[in-house]
Amino acid sequence: MKKKVSVILGCVLTVTSMVMCRKANNAAIDDDSNFDPRLSGGAATFFDISSSSFSTPIPGLSANDERIHELGDALFEQSFIAAPAPRFGGLGPIFNNVSCANCHHNDGFGQPSFGQLGSSLLMRISVPGTDAHGGPNPAPGFGGQLQNVGLYGVHPEVTVNLTCTEQSYTFPDGTITSLHVPSYNIVDAYMPLPAGYMTSPRLGPPVFGLGLLENIPEATILAFADPADANGDGITGHANYVYNPFTKKTELGRFGMKANTSTLQVQVATAFQQDMGLTSYVQPKKSVWGQDQMRYVSDSTATDLADTMVDAVIFYVRTLAVPAHRNVTDPQVKRGELLFKQMNCAGCHRPTMYTGVNVNFPALSNQRIHPYTDMLVHDMGAGLADNRPDYLATGTEWKTAALWGVGMFEKTNGTPYYLHDGRARTIQEAILWHGGEAQRSKDQFANLPKSDRDAVVAFLQSL
Ligand code: HEC
Ligand code: HEC
Repeated sequence: MKKKVSVILGCVLTVTSMVMCRKANNAAIDDDSNFDPRLSGGAATFFDISSSSFSTPIPGLSANDERIHELGDALFEQSFIAAPAPRFGGLGPIFNNVSCANCHHNDGFGQPSFGQLGSSLLMRISVPGTDAHGGPNPAPGFGGQLQNVGLYGVHPEVTVNLTCTEQSYTFPDGTITSLHVPSYNIVDAYMPLPAGYMTSPRLGPPVFGLGLLENIPEATILAFADPADANGDGITGHANYVYNPFTKKTELGRFGMKANTSTLQVQVATAFQQDMGLTSYVQPKKSVWGQDQMRYVSDSTATDLADTMVDAVIFYVRTLAVPAHRNVTDPQVKRGELLFKQMNCAGCHRPTMYTGVNVNFPALSNQRIHPYTDMLVHDMGAGLADNRPDYLATGTEWKTAALWGVGMFEKTNGTPYYLHDGRARTIQEAILWHGGEAQRSKDQFANLPKSDRDAVVAFLQSL
């Protein structure tokens, strides 16, 4: 969903003329006094407070690139159908949903539910051990992901039922609130599930700003890690290294809830393959390859998607802009920002870094950005654990969620959802789930007086 062309050219010019001094990775890098703090995505920032805040192309695309972005946008929205079909065929035979947009509403989070007609939640599955490349060990008969919808006449792999219970939480000051606790029940499997299987529920996350995250130099990300906790702040964090089936190399993980995918190319092609059953030059095998449902596939020789279609969608998610940081001079927002740093939320949610040089996209190149993530995985405690390892990320580890745009979820989604499975209904609930390496920060948050807790939330709402 493209929006009106941006009017921030002035800001763009200011930013590009300011990035010449790239500082080392230290506290000084967060000093915004010489910069416009609203530019969360540098030159790839867009000023729009509406339901389409996540759906705007980065400024400065050539007319031709805008057309590719628009084609990718249309394919992102497109509902695919069963083969044979003259266009947009090849869906399934089993899948999770029929379009990208059904899981990434307005390019933001999806809605956490499991339905017979498609879900934005999906369930990964594996058995103990690893595959040949150190990744999750596929479950025999099910692969790495449970497809809970089937084409007409095709039994889906499983049905997943989600139930939520309320768990009361009492702040040290006596205020009582409630947390939503999800639990999942897998029934009606088409064949017995293997012994010892492990699952991981994940909700389709926002897809904007990813070209910038793809362009952060590896050295920057690795410098955030503190595996031995040398600074004694209780936060370690480490990079995930994952297998890229296209380059056939092990690479730094950047995308997915556990940094379990290295590039947008693989992320998008694997979404087509696993979530929708559509093959491409990057992922040429049907998701049901080697399974009984392969008998429903009439032609497994040609790929379902033309190369240009996959490439356009990759281009689309690579070139979605970041919404601007708002209300930056509001005293409550400023107070919340200060507390965010004092509580060391910024120890994981790193405010500032620079992207590397990108000759193809000036708006992504050499930008000072504020994603509020370190791109590393951290132990987040038992409450959030899925207990299913994913490459080097353990069953308690998750990638630090980028917080840019987190204040726009109500606008983009209507009802907002937070965290890897969408369990949190408010920003405060999301914070209260933090444990493990984030326990200290979370305890400090809980101990704040209510007005300060509100200030922290107000700060996050301004991102
Ligand atoms: C059934 C729901 C579903 C569908 C359909 C779906 N996605 Fe996703 N998407 C997810 C989930 C869940 C994740 C997180 C995956 C993980 O943790 O490995 C994700 C992750 C992503 C990411 C990485 C985001 C990040 O910040 O790491 C991108 C990009 C993406 N999807 C693009 C797409 C595209 C393009 C399509 C259509 C071809 C698509 N998705 C279809 C659910 C879905
Ligand atoms: C040890 C690292 C760490 C620290 C410290 C930390 N976080 Fe997080 N944060 C994460 C991770 C990892 C996630 C994603 C967890 C998940 O999806 O289950 C997350 C998710 C969030 C989310 C939800 C974002 C979304 O898109 O769903 C918010 C809001 C948040 N953190 C705010 C905070 C605040 C405020 C603090 C300080 C009180 C804080 N975090 C401290 C690692 C951390």
